[in-house]
Amino acid sequence: MMTSRLAERMALIQPFHVMEVLAKAQALEQAGRDVIHLEIGEPDFPTPEPILARAQAALEAGQTRYTAALGLPELRARIAAEYPVAARPNPQRVALVPGSSAALLVTFALLLDPGDEVLLADPGYPCNANFIQLFGGVPVRIPCDPETAYQLTPELIRSHWTTRTRAVLLGSPANPTGSVIAPEQMSAIVDAVRRLGGTLVVDEIYHGLVYDTPVRSALHDGDDLFVINSFSKFYGMTGWRLGWLVAPEAYGDAVTRLCQNLFISAPTLSQYAALAAFEPATLAELERRRQAFQERRDFLVPALCQLGFQIPQRPAGAFYVYADVSALTDDSQRFAEEVLEQTGVAITPGRDFGNYRQAEHLRFSYAAPLGRLQEAAERLRQWLGCR
Ligand SMILES: Cc1ncc(COP(=O)(O)O)c(C=O)c1O
Repeated sequence: MMTSRLAERMALIQPFHVMEVLAKAQALEQAGRDVIHLEIGEPDFPTPEPILARAQAALEAGQTRYTAALGLPELRARIAAEYPVAARPNPQRVALVPGSSAALLVTFALLLDPGDEVLLADPGYPCNANFIQLFGGVPVRIPCDPETAYQLTPELIRSHWTTRTRAVLLGSPANPTGSVIAPEQMSAIVDAVRRLGGTLVVDEIYHGLVYDTPVRSALHDGDDLFVINSFSKFYGMTGWRLGWLVAPEAYGDAVTRLCQNLFISAPTLSQYAALAAFEPATLAELERRRQAFQERRDFLVPALCQLGFQIPQRPAGAFYVYADVSALTDDSQRFAEEVLEQTGVAITPGRDFGNYRQAEHLRFSYAAPLGRLQEAAERLRQWLGCR
């Protein structure tokens, strides 16, 4: 019998708690319960038809071999062309990778030496800290309040900067809060990080999914920062595992070496399929979906407020509501478990997203049809009334 000793770094890698919620919800379903899934971080819509058709055509044409390490040139060019002229990167800077997860992995592999610190907002996307720790980096989670839209600000960045700080990671729109960094604030952050001598990484995976004002890519603020995006969320392609990284030109050779070694190439079929993501028919369908998400948000936010949840910052993007549940419980984990068991509504407790006030928060995902959201609100209303 060989030993099963884990590398020390594994002690730092946290589980993705939402998967536990999902497993419990699925167990209830198997026992015959009707579960409303508001814990899931992926769109409920299927991959748009033109993308499926393009994938089928690629299969029939036998396009199943590796592509170039950074992806199909025509897809890299197509992605670059999606950015407005003022922010448009040279396609050479666009690398296709297996999801924005892989883009984060590549970015931190490029940037971090052991002990290097990365500043990030708490609450934030759970995997980020783990990616950083995989390379011996130190995630510095900075408590963020609704007053700053749960986002880092130039002041917070300056006040947490140390001689070991290497990079700052932002998400806009963000998971779990749906908050968006306004263009002028993004410019101020870019300027602050530049002056401090660090590197800015911006996760723009939810970019197409904004409801109040258009978002602006951080690429508008310069070509010296990293921007990450993906076909997963806006384009409805979570399982295709395809995302992209726009890196500063100086890192081009290192990005190529890493992608060659880590992935050989991103999934070929997914890349051919994604060529159809920018066709007018696909974009029209994605716009209909964006409007459906907006309608859901506009129902869910006031409905939750009426039930006693507090949502001080109206989410402007993504498909999440980060609700303060402190008026109803001091233990959001237990609350979420009770809600799931007693009402069949699955929600994610705050502990997945950091440490700061996590026991007072829950994340609701509105990647579920409006009728199911209405049903969930009704079940919660009845349950809260009987408690
Ligand atoms: C903020 C954020 N970044 C990155 C990811 C990873 O997505 P993918 O690897 O599917 O592109 C997710 C998925 O939920 C996310 O919410």
